[in-house]
Formats: sequence, structure tokens, C-alpha cells
Amino acid sequence: MVKILFAASEAVPFIKTGGLADVVGSLPKYLNKDEYDVRIILPKYTCMDENLKKMLRFHSHFYVSLGWRKQYAGILVVQYENIIYYFIDNEYYFSGDKPYNNIYEDVEKFAFFSKAVLDALPLLDFCPDIIHCHDWQTGLIPTYLKNYHNKSPFYQNIKTVFTIHNMKFQGRWKLNAVMDVTGLPKRLFMPDTLESYGEANCLKGGILYADIVTTVSPTYAKEIQTREGGEGLDGLMCRRKENLYGILNGIDYEVYNPKTDPHMAKHFETLDFVPGKKANKLALQRLLHLPEDENTFLISIVSRLTEQKGFDLVAYYMDAILSKDKVQFAVLGSGEEKYEKMFYYFSDKYPDKIEVCTNFSEALAHKMYASSDAFLMPSLFEPCGLSQLMAMRYGTIPMVRETGGLKDTVEAYNEYEKTGTGFSFRNYNFDIGEMPNMIHYAMHVYYDDRKSWNDMAIRCMQKNYSWDNSAKEYEKIYDRLLKK
Ligand code: GLC
Repeated sequence: MVKILFAASEAVPFIKTGGLADVVGSLPKYLNKDEYDVRIILPKYTCMDENLKKMLRFHSHFYVSLGWRKQYAGILVVQYENIIYYFIDNEYYFSGDKPYNNIYEDVEKFAFFSKAVLDALPLLDFCPDIIHCHDWQTGLIPTYLKNYHNKSPFYQNIKTVFTIHNMKFQGRWKLNAVMDVTGLPKRLFMPDTLESYGEANCLKGGILYADIVTTVSPTYAKEIQTREGGEGLDGLMCRRKENLYGILNGIDYEVYNPKTDPHMAKHFETLDFVPGKKANKLALQRLLHLPEDENTFLISIVSRLTEQKGFDLVAYYMDAILSKDKVQFAVLGSGEEKYEKMFYYFSDKYPDKIEVCTNFSEALAHKMYASSDAFLMPSLFEPCGLSQLMAMRYGTIPMVRETGGLKDTVEAYNEYEKTGTGFSFRNYNFDIGEMPNMIHYAMHVYYDDRKSWNDMAIRCMQKNYSWDNSAKEYEKIYDRLLKK
């Protein structure tokens, strides 16, 4: 049995701010249980759901040395849906109403977490063959392991995989401060170690010291080796390319299922989805106080409201689209205030055409995936993207920008060959109008050639973006690492 420990800063159902949590919480369930014993270790945040927190049992405690500091660390444990979760407890670091704050607090907090994960292992009765780390918050795990813990025999055979979910977030902070809070020696803060543009960089530690680096789509794996997509670390990514793999994320096909989803007004089957889609659409329009009309093109957006997701482009073209076209928008998401305000502005101006909800609700998200005709995701960059996959599962056709995982998962419609699973555009620009052109083309197919539209929706539903395929790719990587 191969023992694998996932280390991350979030995982559903315990704590979630983005797609990272979906991946960490779902991938372990899909790895072959007869061959891999996968467990997960997370921080125990005080802001976690109370009912979930009540389930955790105290296991033991120890103290973590970080330079001159010695910090308490409790270990809690719970078995949830057949997976064992460990939690590192320390109220000084993990209290507050959200998991992340400002960068200087976060760097110290996750330096503590990273060291605590390694120090906790001898107390767990579970010595992993592989620690699978995710994003910058766990980048110091391979760093500590390769430069500190591996001096002791207990740690010598542990391998690490480091998965980059988003290259933009790197955990960068002042060199001296990071040296102080990590207790790592000066030689690890040089240009060929953690130093990067005058600061210490936790993500760089993960990329440099992990045995294998992965990211969440093949296209993003290529993009991060270029100046445009590398966020300053493209040189390093190129150096590691022999050990860099792009593996597409999957989604949980049990949770997102048009045949059983408890949030839907009416369930539907792939080949007979039209009546079900209609019923769901009318129910959503009613819920959102939009005019109930099964024949108005309904576009949904479910997203973190950040620059990455392409909302500057949306802001720029929204007026032109809403003022002329027979269209409705349903928007769900929270994030940067300027984007929330932008959507509220348009919903005040065009109350019959756009409804916005900034209180994220899983139930409403499911309703929107299930009920809309199309799903808009014009991301500036997108490592993988999960919501386009969720939308496709319900025959909701994605309209995306050709970047990262969106490029790998959405095939552009070809009206001559009748192939494709969505619509796409290439350039993120404000003058040629590629995004509105794409939307108008989609609208034209929807209004003037409904048969082709419906066939495309069926093709979306017939695609398999569950974890079935990708979990096997991860298994291959684990096996390669252990030379099985
Ligand atoms: C990040 C990325 C997103 C990806 C997710 C899970 O949120 O922005 O593209 O799907 O991580 O890997």
C-alpha cells in the first residue's frame, strides 16, 4: 500500500475559498483505494463550520521550533467519507474569520504549518511515502524536508509532489523576515534558492525542492514556461520541465449530476434534456426575478470576482450587450468590490436583464449550472477552471477565452462539421471586440439553429471530466516516483 499525505491550506467540506479546495477534497476519493492510502492534513481554522469542527478528535500535541520561536501545535483527526483528515491546531495562527489575511501574516502562518506537518509525522502512526503539497502555502514542506528533516532517517525516503494551482500567488515576503520566521539558513535565501526579485518566495521553494512538480492542465504547464504566463518564474519552470506535468482537474460527478442533483427543479437525462432544462430555467428566472421566458438566451457567471476571471473585459462590453440583445445574465460570486459594484450597477440599469448575487451559495451555483443556456468565463488566465466543467455536465454551453485549462477543455464549435463543445475567443483586448463577437455568434446559433445548439449541449454532457482519467495520471506519477 502506497501511503500518501495531501498537505494543503484548504479542502472541501472543511474550508474553501476557491477551486483548490474542490480539488484537494475530491481527488483523494478517486485514487484506487486498494493501492493508495491517501490522507489529508490541513490547518484547523477557527472559522471552519461549527458542526464539522465538533467532529474532530484530539490526537496529541508537540512544539514546533521556528528559529528562536517555539510554537504549540495540536493534532486533531477525523475520518470523513472514508478519508482520514489530520488538522494542525494553533489558535494564534489559525484564528480570525477567514483563512488568509495579509501576506506577512500568511507567510509566517504557513511556514509554521509546513514545518508542523513534517514534525507531526512521527506522531501520526503514518509515515507517508509521498507528501503531495498544493500551492505556495505548502511550498516550504519540500524545502524543509530536503534541507533539514532529511538528516534524520525517519524522513529520508519521503518523496514530494508539488502541485501549482495558481502561479500568481507565490507567498513572497521580505528576505530577513522570512529567514527569521522560518529559521532556515541564509544559504537558502540566495538567487539559486528561495530568493526571487529581492524577496523570499515560498512557491519557489516548492518548485525547486519537490521531486515532481505538476500543474492543473497541459496548456498551463506550457504557459508557465513562458514570460507571459510564468509570473516571473518561467526560467525556473523551464529548468524543471523534465519533471513538470500538466494534469487536468476533474470534478465530482456524483455531486454535479443532472439526474440526481437535489438543487434542481427537474432532473434530466442527456438525450432528453430539453424539457428538464426548460423547467429549470423558468424556475431560476422566477427565483431571480427575471422575466420568465424559456426562449430568452440565459447566460450565467459563477466565479470569484477577481481580475483573473476577465471581469475588466465584461465591464467594458456589458452595456453594449445588455442595451441591444435579447439576453439575460445570472451572476453569482463575490470578491473585489469594484466588480461587485460593476455588476450591481448593471442590474440597477437593466433589472429585467441581469440579476446579481454576491452571497455565494452552493445551492444557487448548482441551479445556475443546471438552468442556463450558456456559461461565460473570459479569463485573463486560467490554470484549469472547474466551473466550465460543471456547466458542461448540465448541458450548459461554455463561452471562454482560449487560455490554460479552458483551452484544453472547451473545443470551439465548428458549424460545418457540427463538432465542438462551446465557443471561444483568443485575445484579451478592448478594441476588436472578440468577446462580444463570440457571444453574438453563440446567440445566433441559439436563436437560429436550435438543433445544432441542442446537439452541442448533448456533446458537452457526453464528455467525461470526472476524476476517472486524471486520478490515473496522478497514480502514474506516484508510481514513477516510487519506481514501481
Ligand atoms: C485555482 C485556479 C483554477 C483551478 C483551481 C483548482 O483556483 O485559478 O483555474 O481550476 O485552482 O486547481
